[in-house]
Amino acid sequence: MAGAGISTPSGIPDFRSPGSGFYDNLQQYDLPYAEAIFEIEFFHRNPNPFFALAKELYPGNYQPNLTHYFVSLLHKKGQLLRMYTQNIDGLERLAGVPPEMLVEAHGTFATATCTSCLRKYDGEDLRPEVMSGKVPQCPTCKGVVKPDIVFFGEELPRHFFKYLADFPLADLLIIMGTSLEVEPFASLAGAVRSSVPRLLINRDLVGPFVWGQRTNDVVQLGDVVGGIKTLVDALGWTPELEALMAAGNQKPQDREEGWDDINY
Ligand code: OAD
Repeated sequence: MAGAGISTPSGIPDFRSPGSGFYDNLQQYDLPYAEAIFEIEFFHRNPNPFFALAKELYPGNYQPNLTHYFVSLLHKKGQLLRMYTQNIDGLERLAGVPPEMLVEAHGTFATATCTSCLRKYDGEDLRPEVMSGKVPQCPTCKGVVKPDIVFFGEELPRHFFKYLADFPLADLLIIMGTSLEVEPFASLAGAVRSSVPRLLINRDLVGPFVWGQRTNDVVQLGDVVGGIKTLVDALGWTPELEALMAAGNQKPQDREEGWDDINY
């Protein structure tokens, strides 16, 4: 299970870290409260703040880091049952985790839907408008086309419910870079069998690691990259991970700007 904390080493802010988190940096939008940027009712009234964020997060702007490649390595070794991610940055796919191994619980920019006529689009169809700071319009009905990101007030994708089959089969649950504040995702942490070890790699203690630790729980507090490096070293996988990253990093980088260059 993963959240925004696995992508901060790639340069993308998380949501709730005080000061640096996305929700502390939305003052210019005069939002009633920070989460409104992901609320479907607010989006229907004013889609502009969301599309400023979408422009930044659109696939191609950022590169995966060691954490994403670790998940990819788990898959290559036949050890990954599934990755449940809350992230919408697409970095798991870029690191080589196949889409069928991923449950992108809060959706993806890979596809989009017209909010009026429900026509489906490929995320790439929207790229020119999103990148030029426009709100994408449906060529058919002129409705607003919204990337298939799950907003507060919307249902999670149907494949989220794969957890009902997956979690009872797991023999280890790794939880990385998430505050476990958002339901129903957060409750997945309790969906593994009670004898199954749960490993939290995060800057701080979160969710059941605060209020409901189990005897087999293990916590590695600190930076997620450092925590994963320690784990990978202990497994003797460091050379393979480095090779995987080196191969991935040879892919062309489309963009060199950072978050600081965002132009609202
Ligand atoms: P949060 O911002 O709530 O939590 C990120 C967690 O990662 C925090 O516990 C941080 O301390 C930790 N963290 C950040 N950087 C780290 C690092 N380098 N190493 C270790 N830990 C680090 O993000 P999420 O839990 O992903 O919803 O938030 C869940 C959902 O809330 C998001 O999916 C988003 C938001 O509203 C939607 O997009 C619909």
